[in-house]
Amino acid sequence: MNREAEPMTLRRRLLLGMGLALGALWSAAVSAPFLAGLRPSRKTQAEGAPVAVDLAGLREGELKVAVWRLKPVWVLRRNEKMLQTMQSESAGLSDPDSESSVQPEYCRNETRSRKPEVFVAVGLCTHLGCSPRKDGESGFFCACHGSRFDFAGRVFKGSPAPSNLVVPPYYYAADGSVVVGEDEKPA
Ligand code: FES
Repeated sequence: MNREAEPMTLRRRLLLGMGLALGALWSAAVSAPFLAGLRPSRKTQAEGAPVAVDLAGLREGELKVAVWRLKPVWVLRRNEKMLQTMQSESAGLSDPDSESSVQPEYCRNETRSRKPEVFVAVGLCTHLGCSPRKDGESGFFCACHGSRFDFAGRVFKGSPAPSNLVVPPYYYAADGSVVVGEDEKPA
């Protein structure tokens, strides 16, 4: 074995080690911002996060609008007359039992809600996405192409909207507010 070659080998190893260390540092520096970019931003998290709607002060017949996932969400406190109107007009509805419509299983009932007096829905027409307005004591009306919905968001026959308004997942928090975006409080 050539003894003069030994220092060279050691030097080479040192250089190789330094090169690898620098490479690892460079790779960490480059990949850190990239990995951070893969994490959802605060704004993105906020846009998908559940939204709490305080019902305090919401009088009978009043509608509150919140924003969830960049969509308007309605919270309506139905009065007795609205509930009665819903029952009497059900014969004219396209999908009275919400079989072809979108709602959580716990809202697949006559009032499409967890509690009869409070209705929660995404406030966008299922035709082309305009936002209907509350139409006096008869329901909701979409002015874009004339779809009509009752106070459970069920579409009337003859409307261009193909299905009832979407009911999002929601639950009641301990303080009585409605939390839109989840079926229940996370464990
Ligand atoms: S968007 Fe509502 S009727 Fe067309």
